[in-house]
Amino acid sequence: MGVLRNGKVGIRVMDLDAALTHYRDYVGLYEVAREPGRVYLKAWDEYDHHSLILKESDRAGMDHVGFKVRFASDLDDIEKRCQAFGLETHKVAAGTRIGEGETLCSVLSSGHRIEFYHDMERTGIKVGSKNPQPWPDDIHGMGANRYDHVLLTCDDVAEATRFFVEVLDFHQSERMITPDGKETLASFLHITNKAHDIAFIKGPDAKLHHLAFALSSWDEVLRAADIQSRYDIPTELTPSRHGLTRGLTTYFFDPSGNRNETYCGGTFPYFDDEVVTWTADQAPKAIFYHGREMISSFAEAVT
Ligand SMILES: [Fe+2]
Repeated sequence: MGVLRNGKVGIRVMDLDAALTHYRDYVGLYEVAREPGRVYLKAWDEYDHHSLILKESDRAGMDHVGFKVRFASDLDDIEKRCQAFGLETHKVAAGTRIGEGETLCSVLSSGHRIEFYHDMERTGIKVGSKNPQPWPDDIHGMGANRYDHVLLTCDDVAEATRFFVEVLDFHQSERMITPDGKETLASFLHITNKAHDIAFIKGPDAKLHHLAFALSSWDEVLRAADIQSRYDIPTELTPSRHGLTRGLTTYFFDPSGNRNETYCGGTFPYFDDEVVTWTADQAPKAIFYHGREMISSFAEAVT
């Protein structure tokens, strides 16, 4: 019961055509639908209709993050739990967005819009689910397997964590705290066995730090960086490892300045695992395990 996964993200872009070129041709997603001001995309290894919505806007950032729930009745349950937590909720009728069923919406105290849904049109994975090949004939760009997670910034990371743990039954896999242990500076939260389905770091409220796409090997991460350079995509981090989550990674930016990540591997936490704790004095190594130096844009470039 409850949340199955982080299933979709909507982001704001200032040039829809440029964004589409970036996410379709370079990241390697597939355009599945469009309507005035919006383009819908998915990765090749995702069953649902879409996982990314590009929304034309006068500013960059995240429009919403959407969590798929296992049963339709979970929407009513989560609605009650959100309201008991003190959040306002409303429902959006099926069909308001292409392919989407009824959606429960709320806004976290951090200012981020969060959505829950059960019904989404099923269009299947590109290789089919009967005797499938390991990758599709028309794989392209970085060949992102799927949308993986978002990392968001907010002033009160502990409060954002409390919502996901107490209301949605997430588990915290890793965290970063101040050396005196009084403040949480980063929180990695999962409902699947991934290292994180969503994460928060200390920063301005209501901002997006990055959205991440999953790759399946270190070779694919290296090739993603080749594509970043080949197409002159603004790049913040060439192939590296995070200490936090142990993930393999690159960071780069879409044409509107939204940070993207390729993400591979990482830990495989269970709900009874201990929370891995990092202290802020180790932040450079926790974030950039190889370089062990903070990159100034990491904290400054949020949308
Ligand atoms: Fe990430």
